[in-house]
Amino acid sequence: MDLPLRMYQNDSALKKRKAFNLSLTPKVDIHLEAMKRIIDKQNPVLDVGCGNADLLIRLAMSTISGKHGVLVGIDSSPGLIQIGAQEAKRKGMALQLLQGNAEELPFRDGQFGTIIMSHTLHVIDHPRRALAEAYRCLRPHGRLILTLHTLKDRPRTIAFLQDIEMRIAKRSNVDRRHQKINADTIQKFLPPFIIKEVQRFESKYHSSSGMEYLDYVNSLRDYFTPPPTPEEWNAMMSMVSDRVKKDIRQYGFIEEQRCNAVVVAEK
Ligand SMILES: C[S@@+](CC[C@H](N)C(=O)[O-])C[C@H]1O[C@@H](n2cnc3c(N)ncnc32)[C@H](O)[C@@H]1O
Repeated sequence: MDLPLRMYQNDSALKKRKAFNLSLTPKVDIHLEAMKRIIDKQNPVLDVGCGNADLLIRLAMSTISGKHGVLVGIDSSPGLIQIGAQEAKRKGMALQLLQGNAEELPFRDGQFGTIIMSHTLHVIDHPRRALAEAYRCLRPHGRLILTLHTLKDRPRTIAFLQDIEMRIAKRSNVDRRHQKINADTIQKFLPPFIIKEVQRFESKYHSSSGMEYLDYVNSLRDYFTPPPTPEEWNAMMSMVSDRVKKDIRQYGFIEEQRCNAVVVAEK
């Protein structure tokens, strides 16, 4: 299969992102918010873009949404699937994890009661294909649970990152221009799903050093396939760190508004 444009090879960047999220106030546990919204306990749950399978492992261990039956995860990254499988084995969890593409799910029609895509839909190269596949694989009245950014999120870095992404997209012939999926634009993409809930969570990053923030932004380099050139990345990072330094000189701290959301839709 063709590798998607945005895909981690291993879970170090995912861990950096989590560390950054933990430095926000109030803290938002977005995986937990997704897990709380699973109401079907009978039918299998699928996590599309499951990464290192941490959500599924938590789901297998927790009683938040009751005991679950079959838990399945799919991700395009062989490295992440391998890490998830090792961790699940170590913890004695029976998860079904496989490498594959959200745009061509290797599952039967109506196989799942719930499909989760946590911070994944907006990175998929052809998100409408992924949504059509999720629709096909859900039972009637099955739930699609998405976690997404909102328009308020990442006001500072988004322009820099999008610039890098457009350059990489040109090199890899992937058209990214249609790609503006977030909790505020999702209505355009979701039909024939019916939206049941959109809940936004606002937090702030406040720091006198900006360390976790720069660390997190820098870890996003890992995300692109093919990776940005060192010149591109260094130029982008120096623009971001100049902004951080300027704020710290002026105010003594940097502050960032972060805003994520959970969206629940029904087939
Ligand atoms: C931002 S990460 C989120 C990972 C995880 N769901 C979480 O919440 O921590 C997005 C994930 O989507 C995966 N991905 C990107 N394009 C994909 C595709 N076409 N099919 C399957 N997975 C994909 C990436 O490899 C990555 O693990």
